[in-house]
Amino acid sequence: MNILIYFGNKINNNSRTEYFLNQLKLEIERKFINSNVHLVTPNNTKLNIVTNWMQLFDESSNDDADKLEKQILSADLLIIISPIFTAHISSYTKIFLDRYAHWVHTMPCIGKIGLPITISGSNSNDYGNEYLEKIMRYWGLVTMPPISIKLNGANSAAMDSLVRYITRQIERESNNHLSLYKSINNEIFEYNKRNLMEYPDSNIEKKLFFDKYPENTKNYMDILVSKIK
Ligand SMILES: Cc1cc2nc3c(=O)[nH]c(=O)nc-3n(C[C@H](O)[C@H](O)[C@H](O)COP(=O)(O)O)c2cc1C
Repeated sequence: MNILIYFGNKINNNSRTEYFLNQLKLEIERKFINSNVHLVTPNNTKLNIVTNWMQLFDESSNDDADKLEKQILSADLLIIISPIFTAHISSYTKIFLDRYAHWVHTMPCIGKIGLPITISGSNSNDYGNEYLEKIMRYWGLVTMPPISIKLNGANSAAMDSLVRYITRQIERESNNHLSLYKSINNEIFEYNKRNLMEYPDSNIEKKLFFDKYPENTKNYMDILVSKIK
């Protein structure tokens, strides 16, 4: 199984988040012996801030978006972890999501499972989780229930227990695409398909969508089933 973890902040040395991320990666690698786990953070991956839509399709951009795109598209499980800053996701997480903004129309991630996680001092995880889950669904993923981590009062034993809980959840759900499916997945798919059909054939997003999901594709579930066979 290929697992990509995007963490939306620079890692502060010796922080509880650093401890959590390292333990999570180790525990997943221990449980899933043949897995590849990539931990992507702003420390190892540069993504430009997007300021206009055409920038998304600029093949000469001087950042790591193309490389990361390939890593995401070859992952079976995508875990997005954001710290909660001022009651929402962090700026780095937003830069990451904006960098692939066209994916909310082209939905390249059908067949993958998403897991949203937020880390706060004590509050506002729900705002971040709801948003991360929404964007993951727009990208085409089915999602596992989001996880809220609250650091106030959490010692390393509590972090270890959380890591084991998350890894068990992954074990339980990593082949359960069909039970994670929600009708909203298909509603988003139908909405995008309808809209893109109205676009001129030269439109980049239209091409990207219909190259992957030809017009005679019935619905989201059909694609999902074909991807997980
Ligand atoms: C700018 C900033 C804003 C924050 N806002 C919140 C917040 O609204 N709610 C909350 O519970 N924690 C908040 N926190 C705490 C962080 O979520 C928490 O400290 C962080 O996820 C832990 O990072 P670390 O382990 O790297 O120190 C904030 C932290 C910073 C730096």
